[in-house]
Amino acid sequence: MRKKLSSICDKHIFGKRKHMKDLFSLPESSFPAHFIWGSATAGHQIEGDNIHSQWWAWEQAGRFAERSGKACNSYALYKEDISLLQELGHQAYRFSIEWSRIEPAENQFDTEALAHYVDLARRVKEAGMKTFVTLHHFSHPQWFEEQGAFHTLDNLPFFERYVRYVVPALAPYTDFWIIINEFNLGNAPERLLEKANFIRYHARGYHLVKEYSTAPVSSAHAFPYYMPSRPTSDFDVTLTRYRDWIDHEFFFHAIRTGEIVMPFQDVVFDADVKGTCDYWAINYYTRHMIDARRASGEGTRYRHTQLKLIPMDFYLEEFFPEGIILNLERLIDKPVYITENGVASNDDAWRLVYLALHMTALKEAIDRGVDVRGYLYWSFLDNYEWGSFLPRFGLVDVDFTTFTRSPRPSAYFYRDVIEHNGFTPEMLRHYLPWLAEL
Ligand code: FCB
Repeated sequence: MRKKLSSICDKHIFGKRKHMKDLFSLPESSFPAHFIWGSATAGHQIEGDNIHSQWWAWEQAGRFAERSGKACNSYALYKEDISLLQELGHQAYRFSIEWSRIEPAENQFDTEALAHYVDLARRVKEAGMKTFVTLHHFSHPQWFEEQGAFHTLDNLPFFERYVRYVVPALAPYTDFWIIINEFNLGNAPERLLEKANFIRYHARGYHLVKEYSTAPVSSAHAFPYYMPSRPTSDFDVTLTRYRDWIDHEFFFHAIRTGEIVMPFQDVVFDADVKGTCDYWAINYYTRHMIDARRASGEGTRYRHTQLKLIPMDFYLEEFFPEGIILNLERLIDKPVYITENGVASNDDAWRLVYLALHMTALKEAIDRGVDVRGYLYWSFLDNYEWGSFLPRFGLVDVDFTTFTRSPRPSAYFYRDVIEHNGFTPEMLRHYLPWLAEL
């Protein structure tokens, strides 16, 4: 009986496989002319020794599993990094300026630090790439933190002074500005107040940049796709809509209308906020399930979608490429740049699959009418993931003791994609030969 079954299998299943091209037959995707391809990093995550920042202080206080230390040592190795970006065919590079290096103590500006960032931006340009310059990416000077950081609008003058100091020097080498990275998530009451403030800081930054630069300006929006755990439950659906309001729609609405609508706060209309994104800068990773029956509101993923890619519970462990389509369809009023998208995995094959799936989804969003003009993979290098070196997002592997950089196969796959302004199943088969053998 056994024998018989297996020979039936052989005939009907394995026999057929000979005629199968592969199991991963994604359509060919070609992107619009002038589409920009690149990758992204952030200062604190790659530079090392960012000792005047609040994040460094938190690390010393033992708040995280690991400290950033020398990170990728990129503050020293930035010229090598630029050469590698160029070798890998990048057309754009997103990086951030560390305010705490520029102004380590209040009103004490470090001219060498400014010269460093100007040199970095200039060299990226000279290497033929567009620059996306982020002015605030999660870290800022410890002295600013001690004054209450973004919890109050009273600190606006500090932020303005920093922006006025760096922007004129960087303007000649900046193609796209990102004022602040991902201030839009979080639902604690004090966080809601802080987010309303952040919009004002963003808007002030926007207008200051405009005094010195004609390059487009935005702030990067973290855009997880929210989905009710039980789409038939009013509780889950209502909470999902609420989370969508306080994390996403408040921002889009404020930028479109000037009206800051936050729960349990009187509405604020600020004409200076209206129109302060020239493009939508979108960071997309995955889906988020919302469950009204839990204090946290966090739902668990469907079990079959959980991918254990690294030996750590990590928030980006599910692939949900359709989320990028569903999210971007809300943003048809401006050009869109994907300013982050990526996966942390020790097995580079997953990165290739993730890239291919998300590029295919992105192409679908474009075909549905979204004006997507560029894509930046997170991240160029493995780096310090805000408390741990475990999640490896890099196209390029980094040895954190020798700082040796080794491009992964995904980096070469991505280089081919850039060269062809799209991808074909053949490219995927080339880098994932075992898919073709199945
Ligand atoms: C984003 C951050 C970025 C990186 C990725 C994984 O939320 O902007 O710095 O940590 O997640």
